[in-house]
Amino acid sequence: MGNGNGSGDLAARLRARWARGAAFLGCPVPIVCGAMSWVSTHGLVAAVSEAGGFGVLAASAMPPEELVAEIAATRAATARPFGVNVVTLHPRFDEVVAVCVEARVEHVILAGGLPPAAAIRALKDAGAKVTCFAPVVPVAKRLIRAGVDALVVEGSEAGGHVGPTSTLVLAQEILPHAGEVPVFVAGGIATGAAVVACLELGAVGCQLGTRFAACAESPAHPDFKAALVRAQSRDAVISPRIDPRLKTIPVRALHNRAMDAFTAMQRELLDALDRGEVSAEAVQERAEHFWAGRLRRAVVNGDVEEGSLMAGQGVGLVKGGETAAGIVHSLAREVEEIVGESHGG
Ligand SMILES: Cc1cc2nc3c(=O)[nH]c(=O)nc-3n(C[C@H](O)[C@H](O)[C@H](O)COP(=O)(O)O)c2cc1C
Repeated sequence: MGNGNGSGDLAARLRARWARGAAFLGCPVPIVCGAMSWVSTHGLVAAVSEAGGFGVLAASAMPPEELVAEIAATRAATARPFGVNVVTLHPRFDEVVAVCVEARVEHVILAGGLPPAAAIRALKDAGAKVTCFAPVVPVAKRLIRAGVDALVVEGSEAGGHVGPTSTLVLAQEILPHAGEVPVFVAGGIATGAAVVACLELGAVGCQLGTRFAACAESPAHPDFKAALVRAQSRDAVISPRIDPRLKTIPVRALHNRAMDAFTAMQRELLDALDRGEVSAEAVQERAEHFWAGRLRRAVVNGDVEEGSLMAGQGVGLVKGGETAAGIVHSLAREVEEIVGESHGG
């Protein structure tokens, strides 16, 4: 297709983007294993980074003391770069940021809403590269103005908390506004061909979660991993919200009994609200509380019916028995087969 020069130029551009992503992360393969609460602990993170990808510790479910220990354990297991993901809703957000500053963490990924400017500044003053999630164009622009070093653009195909817009659309919307700021695309990515498509859109690399959650080094319960391997893409659905009066954050996870119970509970709460038996605040609080502790229940205890089986739509492409290195190397190989070997990066 096309003439030789055109496709050669394109391949060279894609290789240059791939090399930029690698240079930014400080690793040979700009594939990020996105932080996953309860899953992204030192074993998986070190395995991904050792394989040449980029592992990220999930600090969202960790108290600061545990994060200190996890950073030390990751550093003991690999000399390669890795990151720490901090959710702005963390009940001890400032302390967790302070841990990253104190430990001189080189890459901090801030998730869950617009992060406080003071946190970005403190991390950058400590020498960290700060990456943030950009869910819409105005937020991307604000983050760039606030001095973030990179963006993650994550579409609604992703596992975990999601926005309403698909990966392809969000990437098309945000990438043209990123300028010199490197962008990693996430959500439903599971193959090298999809990574190349993201490079074509202007990304410098990709972030994957679900495929890594099922790999050998993932500490998730075997029943959780088996559920991922069994599932098809259409099983990974967004948690139902049956009425606009309930403002719950949508989460993509495999459909199970907990999802049905969540729907039934919303119906009961709204009926009680209509009868004037409960306040709107109480209804909201109970709906929000429903999922508390459920991811842990699935990932750690293997309760695949009552827990939250967070997974992206790429789950249909997840195979059993992969290792972190197998995933990183096969993605790198598939990318190289399409864009050609990189000689400059
Ligand atoms: C089980 C699970 C837990 C997750 N936990 C977090 C988290 O704590 N913080 C975060 O920023 N993203 C979290 N994510 C999102 C991932 O980091 C990643 O961006 C996402 O999984 C990418 O989409 P994919 O699953 O389609 O590959 C989670 C995803 C999964 C599947």
